[in-house]
Amino acid sequence: MATARGAWEAVPGSQGLLRLLSFCVFLAGVCRGNSVERKIYVSLNRTAPCVRLLNATHQIGCQSSISGDTGVIHVVEKEEDLQWVLTDGPNPPYMVLLEGKLFTRPLMEKLKGRTKRIAGLAVSVAKPSPPEGFSPSGQCPNDGFGVYSSSEFAHCKVVQWNPLGNGLAYEDFSFPIFLLEDENETNVIKQCYRDHNLGRNGSAPAFPLCAMQLFSHMHAVTSTVTCMRRSSIQSTFSINPEIVCDPLSDYNVWSMLKPINTSGTLEPDDKVVVAATRLDSRSFFWNVAPGAESAVASFVTQLAAAEALQKIPSVATLPHNVMFVFFQGETFDYIGSSRMVYDMEKGKFPVKLENIHSFVELGQVALRTSQDLWMHTDPMSQKNDSIKNQVEQLLTTLETVGAGVPAVVLQRPRQSQPLPPSSLQRFLRAQNISGVVLTDHSAAFQNRYYQSIYDTAENINVSYPPHLSPEEDLDFVTDTAQALADVATVLARALYRLAGGIASVDSIRADPKTVNRLLFGFLVKANNSWFQSLIRQDLKPYLGGGPLQHYIAVSSPTNTTYVVQYALANLTGTVIDLTQEQCQDPSKVPNENKDLYEYSWVQGPLNSNGTSRLPHCVRSTARLVRALSPAFELRQWSSTEYSTWTESRWKDIRARIFLVASKELEFITLMVGFGILIFSLIATYCINAKANVLFLTPREPGAVSY
Ligand SMILES: *[C@@H]1O[C@H](CO)[C@@H](O)[C@H](O)[C@H]1NC(C)=O
Ligand SMILES: *[C@@H]1O[C@H](CO)[C@@H](O)[C@H](O)[C@H]1NC(C)=O
Ligand SMILES: *[C@@H]1O[C@H](CO)[C@@H](O)[C@H](O)[C@H]1NC(C)=O
Ligand SMILES: *[C@@H]1O[C@H](CO)[C@@H](O)[C@H](O)[C@H]1NC(C)=O
Ligand SMILES: *[C@@H]1O[C@H](CO)[C@@H](O)[C@H](O)[C@H]1NC(C)=O
Ligand SMILES: *[C@@H]1O[C@H](CO)[C@@H](O)[C@H](O)[C@H]1NC(C)=O
Ligand SMILES: *[C@@H]1O[C@H](CO)[C@@H](O)[C@H](O)[C@H]1NC(C)=O
Ligand SMILES: *[C@@H]1O[C@H](CO)[C@@H](O)[C@H](O)[C@H]1NC(C)=O
Ligand SMILES: *[C@@H]1O[C@H](CO)[C@@H](O)[C@H](O)[C@H]1NC(C)=O
Ligand SMILES: *[C@@H]1O[C@H](CO)[C@@H](O)[C@H](O)[C@H]1NC(C)=O
Ligand SMILES: *[C@@H]1O[C@H](CO)[C@@H](O)[C@H](O)[C@H]1NC(C)=O
Ligand SMILES: *[C@@H]1O[C@H](CO)[C@@H](O)[C@H](O)[C@H]1NC(C)=O
Repeated sequence: MATARGAWEAVPGSQGLLRLLSFCVFLAGVCRGNSVERKIYVSLNRTAPCVRLLNATHQIGCQSSISGDTGVIHVVEKEEDLQWVLTDGPNPPYMVLLEGKLFTRPLMEKLKGRTKRIAGLAVSVAKPSPPEGFSPSGQCPNDGFGVYSSSEFAHCKVVQWNPLGNGLAYEDFSFPIFLLEDENETNVIKQCYRDHNLGRNGSAPAFPLCAMQLFSHMHAVTSTVTCMRRSSIQSTFSINPEIVCDPLSDYNVWSMLKPINTSGTLEPDDKVVVAATRLDSRSFFWNVAPGAESAVASFVTQLAAAEALQKIPSVATLPHNVMFVFFQGETFDYIGSSRMVYDMEKGKFPVKLENIHSFVELGQVALRTSQDLWMHTDPMSQKNDSIKNQVEQLLTTLETVGAGVPAVVLQRPRQSQPLPPSSLQRFLRAQNISGVVLTDHSAAFQNRYYQSIYDTAENINVSYPPHLSPEEDLDFVTDTAQALADVATVLARALYRLAGGIASVDSIRADPKTVNRLLFGFLVKANNSWFQSLIRQDLKPYLGGGPLQHYIAVSSPTNTTYVVQYALANLTGTVIDLTQEQCQDPSKVPNENKDLYEYSWVQGPLNSNGTSRLPHCVRSTARLVRALSPAFELRQWSSTEYSTWTESRWKDIRARIFLVASKELEFITLMVGFGILIFSLIATYCINAKANVLFLTPREPGAVSY
């Protein structure tokens, strides 16, 4: 049997053919640099898509058709411009370039279901942020997964927490919607539109027209139940399973004031005061989740409180321990906290539910008016008198320590008022514990941009004098940083008292500088000298040039998770004198123990001449623990007890603009091409049929070819 190689060798001249072929390929490669595609398409580089998410019963978000959706661009700057898109315009479908301030529910309702005339939507960012507020979240966030799902407080009957919520982020759209993040790119599109798509003197515009194409085809459909079942059947029967959706998941960050043995569990009489907050946020668009007020301000405050508490010399003698926990995925029906409660119940976490002495949670705290900090408690668990007394003590403790901080006035909402959406609700679902949620709002949120793209540094008034350099901004204490440091001081002092500390609390003070550095890093510029110094070398790329985004995502840990872990390690840990090898494996070092501590080899600050870094080993109790909804652990994809959110997979997400010819011209081009094809087919047939006449070759007798 002749091998392919043998066959090649047998035919003389094939080497030359091969060379010719590779030359052609090379030539094609060279020419591509100047190809037609590059001349007519302009890709948009700074966009964010709306993607499809699924829960047990629904799909939400957006998608394009498999080959992308194309439409003639129409700029909609005021509502009247929609008339053209929906009825007048002669060249549907249209790709609407929508001003950010028009991205509202009534307008989206008009566009929905008009897929014959709407190919898709590109939304620009409103500047300044819409003054009337904008929140694509629901009015009753995480409804159904808290502690009130079947009581007189269900469905926010007593308090509508987010009255501005229009629910757009939980709608299903059948066309693609992209965010244009860069003003200059938006202007490029508008220029193209003005040059080609505006009719002269009221007449219809002439071809070629400026068009946009959006690609965001989603693989998963219908619901988590459908897509997970499909994935799981595939992975049973196929070596190469095709997975169409992934559960939203990440890691919670947690630490203990006094180290505990994480290989075992605590004794039942070890008591722990839990300080909790959330790490994540979202918006209508994928991976755009600045969450300044809804997440960052609170976890920054908690980090500062952790630092303040750790600095007290007498922590080791406190009767109770304090656990700091930062929950991921709370936005999506409490992924992080429900998982931790689940692990605690199953004994898979060192702290168990019965170890919890009390629970103090930071809700949104950056927009306090007249210095008020509201203490929300749960009315249902307080029907039990012993819980009621404990809650009363908790509130009194807070009020007492709060009296020492004049800039914070602690207030109690009506006692019959339920808790706002909070991780505490997940703990109360499992066990009646005494807990409080501290917020800047007495009833409805102060935050007018809850879970939107506008919940940025600006929303919580973090801004720096323009003449300062980024490094100077790091040390410039803004009013917001000062106000949050005051809250952190109250929190740290209260935790100290709750943990049984009896000494004076006056010396416990959160550092406004720390708060400012954290705010700056998370909200303005993650790639700053401080963040660089406190993370591991391999995590360097996680610090982008702008603010961090706090969407939980599916590939984890995310940037936020790591940075919070390492910031917590820096603020509460100690530098110890180990080499890099010892730091990575401290088991052989006497007095060091991985059961008690986490060790990390961090980049360290630049040396004095700025040429290299001074890495060192940091020992802390800051750790990560999985935040994947128990619904996926239990394979209960239709769970109503646990979060079931998944994110669809996709192949390609991109956007571009180009000029399109008229349908008639396209048709003519097609027809001409078709004509040529038919002609050449006929010609080939004829030549083939008469080949023996046309190409007379002398045939040697006996030469048989196979
Ligand atoms: C996006 O990047 C490509 C390549 O860098 C560039 O040619 C194109 O002009 C950019 N798009 C816009 C809208 O600037
Ligand atoms: C799934 O999400 C939709 C849209 O937000 C909601 O109406 C529905 O109740 C959710 N289903 C479950 C089981 O939570
Ligand atoms: C937009 O372009 C202007 C001038 O070309 C430039 O100064 C500015 O930095 C650009 N803005 C962004 C966000 O890239
Ligand atoms: C538009 O109309 C104005 C007067 O109505 C005329 O002067 C102008 O030339 C027209 N422009 C074009 C491009 O037809
Ligand atoms: C931690 O607990 C494990 C299992 O209970 C035990 O083997 C280990 O020695 C403990 N470590 C320390 C430092 O106490
Ligand atoms: C109240 O809660 C405590 C635990 O905190 C429990 O021991 C007690 O039985 C409860 N009382 C009632 C009346 O449910
Ligand atoms: C908490 O206490 C309330 C009122 O006493 C009771 O109805 C509820 O079942 C308790 N919850 C748990 C998880 O034990
Ligand atoms: C924002 O900060 C500026 C100066 O730091 C202050 O004058 C202004 O009152 C603040 N605005 C709000 C809403 O707090
Ligand atoms: C971060 O900033 C440094 C200079 O300060 C730069 O060398 C590095 O490339 C930046 N990293 C990223 C991911 O932008
Ligand atoms: C997050 O980290 C990735 C690298 O893992 C990086 O590419 C990205 O720019 C970072 N995002 C932000 C917002 O800094
Ligand atoms: C925290 O970061 C600061 C600034 O880089 C550094 O001086 C300090 O030693 C760090 N602390 C720990 C415990 O790593
Ligand atoms: C920078 O300082 C380090 C010591 O901190 C020294 O070893 C190195 O030679 C210096 N490099 C330059 C270029 O001066």
